[in-house]
Amino acid sequence: MKISDSMIAAINDQIKAEFDSAYIYLAMSSYFENEGFQGMAHWMKKQYKEEVEHAEKFIDYLYQRGARFIVPEIAKPKESYENALEVFKTAYAHEQYVTSRIYKLVDLAVEEKDYATQSMLKWFVDEQMEEEDNTSSIVNKLEMFGSDKHHVYIVDRELAAR
Ligand code: FEO
Repeated sequence: MKISDSMIAAINDQIKAEFDSAYIYLAMSSYFENEGFQGMAHWMKKQYKEEVEHAEKFIDYLYQRGARFIVPEIAKPKESYENALEVFKTAYAHEQYVTSRIYKLVDLAVEEKDYATQSMLKWFVDEQMEEEDNTSSIVNKLEMFGSDKHHVYIVDRELAAR
């Protein structure tokens, strides 16, 4: 069964969102490097790479369905933050936004009775649950410790293990 033009456009749009996410996390990584938090910088760099992988998964899926991938323009991300807590709160909010985007794609796939796309999207539904959980638990840890620099460094060291 042929994939619809509207689904091709929606997936291309999601590929842009994944690359935008990658850039957001790359900028967060750069912020942390500059602030001397190498563990958090490492965590964010890994996240950046994961987002590129997400984009690639969608790109490969389009190819598999014989559809065209259009290389998107990537939005310039925010460069500076107040502190580590603000960064991870922003990351968590961003993941919630991405989840809402994935759910909309699922809605479209259901509406179009596109079972192949529904099946492909299942991986992303599960992945979003994990990404929200990861970022929100870091927010909780940072909130628990407040702005005490010593404790932020403990979280930093912990995140170096990712
Ligand atoms: Fe690709 Fe973090 O969602």
